[in-house]
Amino acid sequence: MRIPSRKRCERLGARGGNSHRTATSIQWRRTFPQKRKQLTMSKPRVFVTRKIPAAGLDRVLAACDADVWPDPLPPPHEVLLQRVAGCEGVLTLLTDKVDVEFFEAAGPQLRVVSNFAVGCNNIDVGEATRRGIRVGNTPDVLTDATADMAFALLICAARRIVEGQDFVRRAQWKTWEPLGHVGADLIGRTIGIVGMGRIGYAMATRCRGGWGMQVLYHDQCASEKAEQFLLARRVDLDTLLSQADFVSVHADLNDTTRGMFNAEAFRKMKPTAIFVNTARGLLHVAADLYQALRQGWIFAAGLDVTDPEPIPMDDPLLTLPNCVIAPHIASATVSSRNGMADIAADNLLAGLQGQPLRCWVNPL
Ligand code: GLV
Repeated sequence: MRIPSRKRCERLGARGGNSHRTATSIQWRRTFPQKRKQLTMSKPRVFVTRKIPAAGLDRVLAACDADVWPDPLPPPHEVLLQRVAGCEGVLTLLTDKVDVEFFEAAGPQLRVVSNFAVGCNNIDVGEATRRGIRVGNTPDVLTDATADMAFALLICAARRIVEGQDFVRRAQWKTWEPLGHVGADLIGRTIGIVGMGRIGYAMATRCRGGWGMQVLYHDQCASEKAEQFLLARRVDLDTLLSQADFVSVHADLNDTTRGMFNAEAFRKMKPTAIFVNTARGLLHVAADLYQALRQGWIFAAGLDVTDPEPIPMDDPLLTLPNCVIAPHIASATVSSRNGMADIAADNLLAGLQGQPLRCWVNPL
């Protein structure tokens, strides 16, 4: 199974800065002259699909004629289509579908879509590129927070912490039990990282440095850094599944990776294995994961992502004590969310000016 390459942050960073015009931006202006900013005193119209931290929102409000969706829940799709009509820029979240219909509804003046997320699987990036619309994302600032969450889920699942808390809250705790609540050791085990990008590397660093684990990884690109500093070994997926004690997935969601953790994959894992997914819910097949956990093909799972989100309350995974589920909160730390807001605002404002984005998904 190949994991298509990720957008490398170094590459994005190298394109960063929005203070001067580059050859790329000049060429972009020639290719899409209709998108050249009119010399006008009016502020550009933008739609911001949710309140984001002031670290970014304040600058957007100061520079733009901004319509900010006030509710905690996303705008319904038809409302989104109405609100983007006539906008030059839109600041979106993962919950907003940005597709042909969106671009048609927005109109030809749309110059930039700034996604408040590192992943862009809610956006038809190819279509944006064809239309000369810049797309930005927010990498790097959430790497450590997400790796912390992956490790937290691993240790929670291994040591049965949530199950233990439920036990306490149900008033079942009667005594200290020599045979009760026994979980898995982490020290010196083998972690299997699927997708050795920034977050995969950060997770592997925690496992190697803090817990002395061996690191196996599966990725279409070799990571010299992981091999040199973490003594990581690149292996095919089957080897990783059969040899790793814990499998943590950090791959992009795309046509190659969708559903890669299915019954066949779970059956290859050790019965003592723990599966961790902080990337995207569609990377695993929920019904197969349920069988794997229920039938004891694997020991436990820790998920920060599900499909759909939120997970329906009648989803059978919620009945399992050996499945820890968090509500997609891996980037929810103060510095990550402020950093994401800062980058998302920079991307939006740069795109409105026809400048290179600080973190540019589709350099044009
Ligand atoms: C969250 O899942 C993100 O892609 O930022």
